Amino acid sequence: MKTTVDLEQTLLDICADMTACEDKGVVANYIPELAKVSPDRFGMSVCLADGQQFSAGDAATRFSVQSVSKVFTLAIALGRYGDGLWRRVGREPSTHDFNSVQELEVRRGIPPNPFVNAGAIVTTDMVLADSTPAETLGEILRFIRQAASDEDILIDPAVAASEKLSGHKNWALAHFLKSFQNLKHPCERTLGVYFHHCAIEMTCEQLARFGRFLAGFSKSPNLVSRENIRSINALMMTCGHYNGSGEFAYRVGIPAKSGVGGGILAILPGKASIAVWAPGLNKQGNSLLGTKALEALSRSLDWSVFDSGGQ
Ligand code: DON
Repeated sequence: MKTTVDLEQTLLDICADMTACEDKGVVANYIPELAKVSPDRFGMSVCLADGQQFSAGDAATRFSVQSVSKVFTLAIALGRYGDGLWRRVGREPSTHDFNSVQELEVRRGIPPNPFVNAGAIVTTDMVLADSTPAETLGEILRFIRQAASDEDILIDPAVAASEKLSGHKNWALAHFLKSFQNLKHPCERTLGVYFHHCAIEMTCEQLARFGRFLAGFSKSPNLVSRENIRSINALMMTCGHYNGSGEFAYRVGIPAKSGVGGGILAILPGKASIAVWAPGLNKQGNSLLGTKALEALSRSLDWSVFDSGGQ
């Protein structure tokens, strides 16, 4: 394995290579606020088991975590309900788009997994339970801040408002879920919380620190057991990149969750928590250069969980 000095240089090299790439993908534009972000941004940060953290590029710049926040709500829901979650959401990968309405109708209102939008909306509905939206968002923020050891993590209300106005597919999904009795609260209440937790802003440095408990080398906040962590990492590997999950596992080989803000949180159990941010997306809605950077890192350090390390 490479030394940490090498890791520092490796990140700088990857950052330079990504910055030089001509094809940076397309910044999400179905949420107008996200379309304002420059595709030229790139940041990366890695936390190791020994407590060291290394970063490169725009690792201290805040970005909209979007679907990476589905990891936060999944962790809280699993901590609270355990296997009860699986009565309302499946845990199988999907070949459909992350916001497919068609798939939800075919599956009679049971989303395939907690990372597609419909599954995350159901998970949010469960986390909301009998609390108010403000209390629930407070709980989600406390959970992230505790895991990341950082109080300075907030929601961007402009992004949440922008998605509330333009997120028509999510409204359709919520109404479908409701029609199949798989949404307890009014659509507006659950989606209000969902849009706001998607609009949480974090830096790569904060996100990598958040992921330490999933990598198994920091104390787990709340009720997230080792068993739950194993489940979350398995879901990240099989479903974290939607219909691009197979390709991501093939190329990178690390459990990871993407967001349309261009962020990816990748967890190498026992070894590293990695966050990368590059706003341009590929056609499945995952960060184009973020994936490329993680592939380069994984190859250079033999970090794929499928790599025997040559033994
Ligand atoms: O619900 C949505 O469409 C967004 N708030 C989040 C989707 C997302 O990040 C998909 N990820 N790559």
